[in-house]
Amino acid sequence: MARVLLRRAAATAHPQTPSLHHLFRQLSTAAAASAAPSKPKTFSIYRWDPNNPSQPTLKDYQIDLSDCGPMVLDALIKIKNEVDPTLTFRRSCREGICGSCAMNIDGANGLACLTKIQSGSSNTTVSPLPHMYVIKDLVVDMTNFYSQYKSIEPWLKRKSKIEGGKEVLQSKKDRLKLDGMYECILCACCSTSCPSYWWNPESYLGPAALLHAHRLRCNRGVQMMRFSPQVKQWIADSRDEYTKERLEAINDEFKLYRCHTILNCARACPKGLNPGQQIQKIKTLQITK
Ligand code: SF4
Ligand code: SF4
Ligand code: FES
Repeated sequence: MARVLLRRAAATAHPQTPSLHHLFRQLSTAAAASAAPSKPKTFSIYRWDPNNPSQPTLKDYQIDLSDCGPMVLDALIKIKNEVDPTLTFRRSCREGICGSCAMNIDGANGLACLTKIQSGSSNTTVSPLPHMYVIKDLVVDMTNFYSQYKSIEPWLKRKSKIEGGKEVLQSKKDRLKLDGMYECILCACCSTSCPSYWWNPESYLGPAALLHAHRLRCNRGVQMMRFSPQVKQWIADSRDEYTKERLEAINDEFKLYRCHTILNCARACPKGLNPGQQIQKIKTLQITK
């Protein structure tokens, strides 16, 4: 009742009356802290601070699930807002679109905003994407990942002149061939779950960059005759005209052939994509080109 009255008073008070707002905040926090959680859940979260470099630790935080959204990202935001503002993680869209909340949750890579909190009594462990340099807590350095993406030149390249700078059109059928690739949000869940990428992160391009490479490296200049002679199907992006050069650029023992088709990448992808399969297609094209 006291909280309700205070809230009403705070709502009607003049915004320039900081003392009442301040008092309300303090009382609310104290009340929340003293109330016993009706649905307690402990999160063990990886903590490491570059300004106080010591061994990284797993720190436990208990929150009340009855007062929290259903996803792991909701729990992290609640912990940051109400328990420990120093906890650091990336997030933006909260909808599985931006890819920035990728992390390792209970041993599996995924997006915190799409991963439901397990309601069981055991702790949920949250740590950064594996085999990446940690900047702080759950934030990892994506520089190498992005420069590998950049190296495959992820934009359409044309040899023929486009009349009047017009848009290059694509048939619905050709557009459908990009399904399974264009949906990638570059979250890095796949690459950081790939054992080959763990051991050769600088020389192997990894599943995410190769998935994008396949979108662009395969166009109407390449036929899948050898594997589906009756189909005569052109694959991937029909608008790109640098297939041969693109295939040459990744025809490399390390850049491409470190993939051993273990398919951890497919299991990790929160968008349901299968980068390992796309890599297989690139390898096939290398034989048939
Ligand atoms: S199939 Fe295996 S080796 Fe290849 S990219 Fe995926 S996880 Fe890595
Ligand atoms: S393929 Fe999937 S897991 Fe890999 S970067 Fe794209 S969306 Fe993320
Ligand atoms: S916050 Fe954007 S994907 Fe999770």
